[in-house]
Parts: sequence; C-alpha cells; structure tokens
Amino acid sequence: MEIIHTIEQLQNIRKNINATVGFVPTMGALHNGHISLIKKAREANEIVIVSVFVNPTQFLAGEDLEKYPKKTEADIKICQLCKVDYLFMPLATTMYTQDEVLIKAPLLRSYTLEGERRPGHFDGVLQVVLKLFGLVKPTHAYFGKKDAQQLSLIMQMNENLFLGITIVPCEIIRESDGLALSSRNVYLSDEQRTQALAISKSLNSAGKLIGRGILECDLIQESMQNIMADLEIEYIAFVDRAFNKIDKIILGNTIILIAVKIGSTRLIDNIWI
Ligand code: PAJ
Repeated sequence: MEIIHTIEQLQNIRKNINATVGFVPTMGALHNGHISLIKKAREANEIVIVSVFVNPTQFLAGEDLEKYPKKTEADIKICQLCKVDYLFMPLATTMYTQDEVLIKAPLLRSYTLEGERRPGHFDGVLQVVLKLFGLVKPTHAYFGKKDAQQLSLIMQMNENLFLGITIVPCEIIRESDGLALSSRNVYLSDEQRTQALAISKSLNSAGKLIGRGILECDLIQESMQNIMADLEIEYIAFVDRAFNKIDKIILGNTIILIAVKIGSTRLIDNIWI
C-alpha cells in the first residue's frame, strides 16, 4: 500500500491506472463500518483508494472539528490489512485554497433533518466529495446508509453534475447489541453507551410494528418516543428514498431516521423499510 499526501502524487498515479477504481472517502478513526465499505470496494474493483481527511468545511462553528478522533497509525494498519492500494491523507491546506468555487447542496433535500440542525453541513460534504472525486476519478464510490441523507445528496450530485460514477450504498454495521458503529461513539461514557441502545431498539420496534401491518407514522413515532423516553430526541423522521416526508409507511420506499443528543454527543441512526 502506498500512502499519498499530495495532489501531484495522486494525479500522477491515477493517470497510469486503466482499471476499475473503487473509492472509499472517510474521516478516519476507522471502524468496522468503514471496513465493510473497503471490503466491498476490494471485492469489486481492481484498484482500491481510501481517503482519510477530517474535512473542516463540513463542521459548523462549535462542533467537534478540533476533538474529532484521530488514529492515523491504526488507520494505516487497517488499510494495509484490507489490501487497500492507495491511502490518501491530505492536509487541509492541500485540499483548500482561500477563495474557492463553492458547491451548494440542493435546498429541498439538504435543509431538512441533518441540514436543518447543521445548516451548511451538506455544502461542505458535497464540496469535499466533489474535490475527492475530481482527484481520484473513481469508477465506483462506496457510502454507508448510516448517513442516509448524505448518501442521497451524493447520489443527487452524481446525477446533477453528470459525474457518471457508480455510487454503491452499503448496509449499516452495528455492534452485537445493536448500536450503530460511529467514530463518535468514543465520546460516550459507559452509562451513555447503555442509554444509546434505545436508539436501535426503537428502530427495531418500528420494524416490528410495520411487520404487523401498522403503517401510520404517528403511531410508530409514539412507540419509538416511549422507548427513547430518557434521551434528548432531536428528530424522528419518516421519509421516502427521495427524502420527502411521508405520513404512511411505503413498503420498499421508506427510511425512518433518528437524531438524538446524549450529553454533548450527537448520534444518528436509521432503518430502511
Ligand atoms: P465518515 O463519518 O468517516 O464515514 C465514512 C463512510 O463510512 C460514510 O459513507 C459513512 O456513511 C460510512 N459509515 C460510517 N459508519 C458506518 C456504519 N456503522 N455502517 C456503515 N457505514 C458506515 O461520512 C463521512 O466520513 C464524511 O462526511 C465524508 C463522506 C468522508 C466527507 O468528508
């Protein structure tokens, strides 16, 4: 595996690749969720490129940019073990200049839910993903359903800007007790981690209710709220795959999303119905 820090290095390498390129963009502190994306990329492509870059433009003032977990040595080891070909680890000054062409996320899909809580967040995500796509020129790019709204916006950008990349959505990886893996889980105390289990429990119970034929979102939401009674819920949302709000579950075309705050840690999770 080769570790790349500069744009020139990456561009030179890319010029000489005439094969399928699977790309997995990350912010590092790699866990089994990231690893599942890398494995999928490894299975389906001749070349696999992973990026580790904590992108400043997607953090709002007062968020955890400064304390975002950094595990460079472990990340390198993991990528080596997963047989990644190239690991791109740029500095912020390598990725950004002072006065740039800016990407604006589409208003309808980006200023609800996560975008409402974190205005501008998705502009920063799309900005960096487009830059990374421009450098890596992947044939396939892998994103987790865990960040469902991000995935949906990246798919829209791919269509709207005619990028022609195959975007591959990947399943949410969870701990054995149900907690969705997240680099931010390290912020949780033992007690908070136990509390956080209510999130996946409430999503599972929603799935069970739907299995029993209950399709009214109000009823499902009530039961989810009861299960998460001890948590500070930011939102419970019912949307179709295009992120339009729905009142009634559409089987095969629904995502139920949750955002909660536990202490100062924000966690998101969802289930695709
Ligand atoms: P990061 O949070 O590091 O996540 C990188 C990728 O891993 C994303 O596609 C995310 O959805 C996926 N992922 C995270 N946890 C997962 C889990 N438990 N199961 C499955 N996939 C999971 O998302 C970002 O970084 C950034 O916004 C980025 C796209 C890299 C742009 O900066």
